[in-house]
Amino acid sequence: MSKLKILNIVGARPQIIKASAISRAIAGPFSKEIEEVIVHTGQHYDRELSEVFFDELEIRMPDHNLQVGSGKHGRQTGLILERIEDVIMNEKPDCVIVYGDTNSTLAAALAASKQHYPVVHIEAGMRSFNKTMPEELNRIMADHSSTLLFAPTNTAFKNLMAEGFRPENMAPYNINNPRIFLTGDIMYDNSLFYAELAERKKHDFLKKIGLADDQFILVTIHRDLNTDDAVRLTSIFRTLAELSEKNGITLVMPLHPRTIIALKKSAPELHEKMTGTGLIRIIRPVSFLEMILLEKKARMIITDSGGVQKESHFFSKPCIVLRKETEWVELVKNGTVRLADADPGKITEAWDYFMNNKEMLHFPGFYGDGKAASTILREIIEVFRS
Ligand code: UD1
Ligand code: UDP
Repeated sequence: MSKLKILNIVGARPQIIKASAISRAIAGPFSKEIEEVIVHTGQHYDRELSEVFFDELEIRMPDHNLQVGSGKHGRQTGLILERIEDVIMNEKPDCVIVYGDTNSTLAAALAASKQHYPVVHIEAGMRSFNKTMPEELNRIMADHSSTLLFAPTNTAFKNLMAEGFRPENMAPYNINNPRIFLTGDIMYDNSLFYAELAERKKHDFLKKIGLADDQFILVTIHRDLNTDDAVRLTSIFRTLAELSEKNGITLVMPLHPRTIIALKKSAPELHEKMTGTGLIRIIRPVSFLEMILLEKKARMIITDSGGVQKESHFFSKPCIVLRKETEWVELVKNGTVRLADADPGKITEAWDYFMNNKEMLHFPGFYGDGKAASTILREIIEVFRS
């Protein structure tokens, strides 16, 4: 029997990491059944946002790189649409896998579905219910262009049902009769797999950068709502600088290039002051294995990232989220994520609570059994073989 051909689409940092779980399973137990073609849109292109993950996570280099680079939403999405159309037409895959909610996700899902190639959406059904977020528009449209939708959580599965997706649909599946499936989270697979590798391969990383276990707080900021609003950005950085100084604790910030650019522009004095003080450590983005070690050894995590807030849970760390809402609502209900927006009062309150109540926090398993990638590939074979 010929192999099932899938196009695995990546573009932004978290998608490369997510795709590694699928690539690893294809190279392993599914190697006789599935042929993988990797397409990189080129949305992220700096070595530390892209190539480093291919090297470190041992993913094959992409078969196609569309090299779209940065730009306004319309231009970036448009370029991907235009360039990926030819790739899909030439490769003629059995299905096209897209991840999450970036412009790469949307463009690939649209291009494939309009050519009548079935789309598989991994991380389907996530909703913030805030359509001013570019990601919310991208994920809704990707879901509604898909034939097979893999929800990582119960909430995501219910969100899909609320939008009219029916779990009782029967094969044969297509865009008008899609299949929804609750799988657990492939990032949980990855955190389990790479945490062990990180300890082996990078055991001296923390020491090398002068950090000790439990003696620092990890901070990441990159969402447009924070970077592109000078008032919010300044409020967040000023509050964090004050809290770090008052409590005498180091803040380690591997910042996305977008945030550095924005900080230098909106608050150059603050940027200079922060890079000058001993307690604030702004560093370049780190590799995934290094990130796992920072997450595992941090006292607490402060972030506006979707992926990082979830990883805080995998590594049993409390997390302050610098947004008004989150898609990972179970973490907020569980009391281990607090939504603080960019509000100095809320950030301070959450900080004090988490610093003083560590023993009250519990981190139950919300994200599956760590085998989501295999479950997904089995289901893909079942659906597209028949
Ligand atoms: C994108 C996603 C976001 C995701 C994030 C993961 C969209 C709309 N947003 O946001 O959902 O959370 O990726 O990290 O798809 N830049 C560089 N080097 C690069 C790439 C970007 O310096 O390799 C800078 C450029 O100034 C660029 C800016 O970052 O304009 C924003 O990049 P872009 O890909 O548009 O969005 P992200 O903020 O990375
Ligand atoms: N990450 C990383 N190095 C960094 C910052 C983040 O490897 O310096 C990883 C992080 O562990 C997570 C993913 O990148 O797996 C999250 O990406 P990001 O925060 O850019 O995007 P989001 O998840 O918000 O879409």
